[in-house]
Amino acid sequence: MSASESAQSLIEKPVDDLSREEAVLELERLAGELKTHDEAYHTNDAPIISDAEYDALKRRNEALEQRFPDLVREDSASNRVGGELAEGFGKITHSVPMLSLDNAFSDDDLREFLGRVRRFLRYDPLMGDLAVTAEPKIDGLSLALRYENGKLVHAATRGDGTTGENVTANARTIADIPQTLPAGVPEIVEVRGEVYMAHADFEALNARMQANGGKVFANPRNAAAGSLRQLNAEITKSRPLKFFAYAWGEISDLPANTQMGMVETFQTWGFKINSLMKRCVSAEELLEVYHRIEEDRASLGYDIDGVVYKVDDLELQRRLGFISRSPRWAIAHKFPAEKAFTILREIEIQVGRTGALTPVAKLEPVTVGGVVVSNATLHNEDYIKGIGPKGEALRGGKDIRVGDTVVIQRAGDVIPQVLDVDLNRRPEDSTPFMFPDHCPACGSNADREVNPKTGRSDAVRRCSGGLICPAQAVEKLKHFVSRNAFDIEGLGAKQVEMFFEFDMDKGGVRTPSDIFTLRERDSSSLTKLRSREGWGAVSARKLFDAIDTRRFIDLNRFIYALGIRHVGEGNAKLLARAYGSWEAFYEAMKAAGDPTSEAYRDLNDIDGIGATVAEALSQFFGEEHNIAELDRLLEQVTPKDVVVEDTSGSPVAGKTLVFTGSLERLSRDEAKSQAEALGAKVSGSVSKKTDMVIAGPGAGSKLKKAQELGIEVISEDDWFKLTGAD
Ligand code: IVH
Repeated sequence: MSASESAQSLIEKPVDDLSREEAVLELERLAGELKTHDEAYHTNDAPIISDAEYDALKRRNEALEQRFPDLVREDSASNRVGGELAEGFGKITHSVPMLSLDNAFSDDDLREFLGRVRRFLRYDPLMGDLAVTAEPKIDGLSLALRYENGKLVHAATRGDGTTGENVTANARTIADIPQTLPAGVPEIVEVRGEVYMAHADFEALNARMQANGGKVFANPRNAAAGSLRQLNAEITKSRPLKFFAYAWGEISDLPANTQMGMVETFQTWGFKINSLMKRCVSAEELLEVYHRIEEDRASLGYDIDGVVYKVDDLELQRRLGFISRSPRWAIAHKFPAEKAFTILREIEIQVGRTGALTPVAKLEPVTVGGVVVSNATLHNEDYIKGIGPKGEALRGGKDIRVGDTVVIQRAGDVIPQVLDVDLNRRPEDSTPFMFPDHCPACGSNADREVNPKTGRSDAVRRCSGGLICPAQAVEKLKHFVSRNAFDIEGLGAKQVEMFFEFDMDKGGVRTPSDIFTLRERDSSSLTKLRSREGWGAVSARKLFDAIDTRRFIDLNRFIYALGIRHVGEGNAKLLARAYGSWEAFYEAMKAAGDPTSEAYRDLNDIDGIGATVAEALSQFFGEEHNIAELDRLLEQVTPKDVVVEDTSGSPVAGKTLVFTGSLERLSRDEAKSQAEALGAKVSGSVSKKTDMVIAGPGAGSKLKKAQELGIEVISEDDWFKLTGAD
């Protein structure tokens, strides 16, 4: 028997008939095979064998391991993957949230930033220069590395800023990331920075992947993200990832008192830091660094998309604090967007989840800033006609036509857009584009609402089909499962479209609640998901499991997922925090359908929620079919109560405060942010609901009103004593 013949006979031999020696060989083969298939399935999204065949291999491996437990290999599929594969990455809640940065787009934006910082801090020129650092904004993905007693204990991606993915095993394979820190470092240290891929490494990786018949990555950022988020750390290890340290999260003891000092300390601990970082003391100096980095951009060897400025003094950083999701002490100065010329092949009208008809430019593919672009937004009907948002003629009122040569722009993560049209290159036979007045998906009328206040018609044309419009329904579902909403693994836009096409008795999905009855319906259906093309027993089960993991969900995600007009992520968070539980929110919203109710007034009073949002909510909850679907959904899904941050010990937690008069040691903004950090609400006017007024010199009517109402009034000094800031 030849070697290959004997190998073949091994494969076919029942597990019980294998000798110990044969089992060793067979376990080795199975480890290799399963690894290949895991990689094909998870990494390349291109399985080589059917799920049934895969299951058979896995079962054989397990049976062999059961017979010879001492022969279980370290790289066995049962060790390596198992639960990990089914569940994806574990989640890690950041002990200090990972924030994002506000953007500046011009030199003036930077000057304004510096002005804001100075005003907030009441930073007197006599106090000397305000030091600010400048450094490249690396175009990768941020990573938090937690060290306890000098040992790397976990690594987490940014995720939604509050919770990220546990990618510890993968981070350990990156050479730039130390596994241990030198003696003497603080007990708890969380170093943050950017994982990225250098240009040369990116090119080589893509060449390798292409040679193996695999997919290629569109740009180094995607390659870095795709490589870090591998379920199999071995794959991450084979990818050339790098890391720059530039920030920190929780730290038990600050080793320096400036931004620069911190980053330099990281370097002494073994981290790579960016050598272009510089400490400056004026706008001019900062802009010089910005323009120099911009000039050198192409020769750095890695992608950057701007320059980040940070107030150097950490005490000032602490005082400046945060505004919603970004620090007041830092800003990202973005490089101008990249532009390119290409031909407009077609204008497609897409229907969004709220029925908005959006024109999308189908372009002759063109590379802009390293990414191939073939779609771009054309904004709206007026934009195509050449009319601006205020009714003004755009660039001489040029209309954009199919066949035109257009300028497109791509900036960062935003959707590429059509900026301009080159009239000199317009084909002679071109005709103006006729924007449809009927929905291309359902044929209903599509109208532009007239705003009763301004008398102007809305820029957006909307399909009036509502529930009968399939395009709206599909888009609502896509939104429901999207990353910041239900985020169901394996149920993306493509799958939603597929399930939407199926008959309801064959595993169809029309509304969100249908998603959660899929498993049950599948079990009693004659057309099982696992027997559909492209699906198998494993992938079907995985999807049902993934759906089950989302039966309990954060309240803010749940609210956001509903896709109510004007309720984006930020407003959903505000609402979740204000009401605390689904029950409270739901009752209030049903009551708020009446605009004269107290519930409606309370809703309007939430800081950050304006009349437009309140109106949209009351409309949504006023529609019977929405309530019916919600009640179906709530039989399947339970939104979790909001866990309130612990500000116990704070003397003003939960209280409503009013600052009035001039404050001497604090700017009004800083006072407000201090109070909010202590769990208080700050209001602009005194009412019965006010708990305390902090009055400085020159306080007038508000002070008087407080006295009339018998509200406690304290001075600025008292405020400092109360909050322990003195
Ligand atoms: S500082 C509190 N510095 O930009 C702010 N961020 O838009 C902490 N980034 O998520 C971030 N280079 O992934 C900082 N030198 C740099 C950066 C940088 C890239 C990324 C980071 C962050 C995003 C914010």
